[in-house]
Amino acid sequence: MISNFEFTSDEEFLGFIATYLQSDDKLVSDLANLSSLIFHYLDDVSWCGFYLLDNDELYLGPFQGKAACTKIKIGKGVCGSAYKRGETLIVDDVNTFPGHIACDSASKSEIVIPLEGFGVLDIDSTSYSRFREKEKSLLESVMNLLSKKINS
Ligand code: SME
Repeated sequence: MISNFEFTSDEEFLGFIATYLQSDDKLVSDLANLSSLIFHYLDDVSWCGFYLLDNDELYLGPFQGKAACTKIKIGKGVCGSAYKRGETLIVDDVNTFPGHIACDSASKSEIVIPLEGFGVLDIDSTSYSRFREKEKSLLESVMNLLSKKINS
């Protein structure tokens, strides 16, 4: 079950995701479609995808956008830092983040939402300060829904 219609609110978007994740699709298929759904729902996003946990590093998973670096050590970059801290990181200007890993030089701001034991959702924008509390709340809700499916 998949739809490419325009969502008119975060509530509608989350409701769709919740229903979508009730399917018995494989995890990699869910991640591929989630990256596409988020990429097309949010304005001004240049990259959206997952980095998945493997021992002491994160490896590139399903995404939308330009080709990206494939491995990030836990504690490194925005992704590895968010995973290590266990909290969402919002970076208004990636050039000011120590150790930021620049996969795309056009990227200006970034949000990373970690999920313990799984990996992170990483989203980039070519605008400064693109991500706020509203996006944090929405994307953490998406990861909570994903977490429920992974643990079910
Ligand atoms: N900027 C990230 C690396 C991944 S790309 O943005 C897709 C980081 O610093 O971890």
